[in-house]
Amino acid sequence: MRVLVSGGAGYIGSHTVLALLEHGHDVVIVDDFANSKPTVLGRLETLSGKTIPLHAFDLTDADKTEHLFASEKFDAVIHFAGFKAVGESVEKPLDYYRNNLDSTFSLLRAMTRHGVDKLVFSSSATVYGDTAPVPYHEDYEPLSASSPYGRTKVMIERVLTDVATITDGFRVALLRYFNPVGAHPSGMIGEDPQGIPNNLMPFIAQVAVGRRDKLRVFGDDYPTKDGTGERDYIHVMDLAAGHVAALEHLPTMDEPVRAFNLGTGEGTSVLELLHAFERAVGHELPYEVVERRAGDLPAYWADPTRAQQELGWQATHTIDDMCADTWRWQSENPNGFPEG
Ligand code: UD1
Repeated sequence: MRVLVSGGAGYIGSHTVLALLEHGHDVVIVDDFANSKPTVLGRLETLSGKTIPLHAFDLTDADKTEHLFASEKFDAVIHFAGFKAVGESVEKPLDYYRNNLDSTFSLLRAMTRHGVDKLVFSSSATVYGDTAPVPYHEDYEPLSASSPYGRTKVMIERVLTDVATITDGFRVALLRYFNPVGAHPSGMIGEDPQGIPNNLMPFIAQVAVGRRDKLRVFGDDYPTKDGTGERDYIHVMDLAAGHVAALEHLPTMDEPVRAFNLGTGEGTSVLELLHAFERAVGHELPYEVVERRAGDLPAYWADPTRAQQELGWQATHTIDDMCADTWRWQSENPNGFPEG
């Protein structure tokens, strides 16, 4: 298929671009580099041995989006582009609602106008809110989220469902990611957060490479195996493969919309992840236990059965793989991607 990948220069997008090319798909990227660097492109071209067309603009610009669809033909869209920092979304809710929703509206209008009827959407386990039983199952309702960022994911899932339901032949896969970590095994691409990382794995990686003094563990008095928070970490290479599986499944779908959890089905605690990273690095890493972080849940993980049965997809990478690959990327690129 010829696939437009929005946000294809970002962390999950870039790994998915490589997986699509490896599976024989043609890829066109649209990305405004709001949270990524243009130098990722050269690395993707080196790794794939292919030239990857790129359109550098902001999808909230409906005219530019319309022009792109008028001048090129696509079979499908994978929509990653969006703001994703939970804390920032609380500070700037309007920016988040405007950016994440408007970009989706532009895409949907252009898609329906030009007969592009297959879409894979980058959603999140955050849509299960704080009341869903663990493990999380796709049929759980009502969806909710505790941050404006998370609410944009819930809203976009609803918008896509409404549009697909009344548009003949439209097919949408909603991919609900758990906690994506890891990097391409080459060490050439990986997660490159701007500023102080909010998430656990990039923070540990920056402690290991000497950019941060120590990890702060947010609470060790949760009702979990060792008192620290448990999450379902998933290797970004598995996640990328999940997007290819979902894309190829779309034409066979009976229903217009289907949600899929992309997770391993297993919980790993903060201290377990830290110790796995220590094994990858070969020495201990400094940490201290501090107060719980507001809004954090004790423990959750995916029920990944539906993706196994319907997409034929399953995560295969271990926690040690995730740490080894993150460490290769971080140690070979201590400051992330170079400026252009
Ligand atoms: C967070 C978001 C989620 C988003 C996801 C993106 C919240 C409440 N949830 O998930 O909506 O989709 O990021 O990847 O913000 N931790 C530490 N020290 C740190 C950082 C994290 O102890 O410096 C702990 C947390 O308390 C948690 C675990 O590590 O138990 C994972 O945290 P994090 O990587 O931020 O992801 P989530 O909170 O699960």
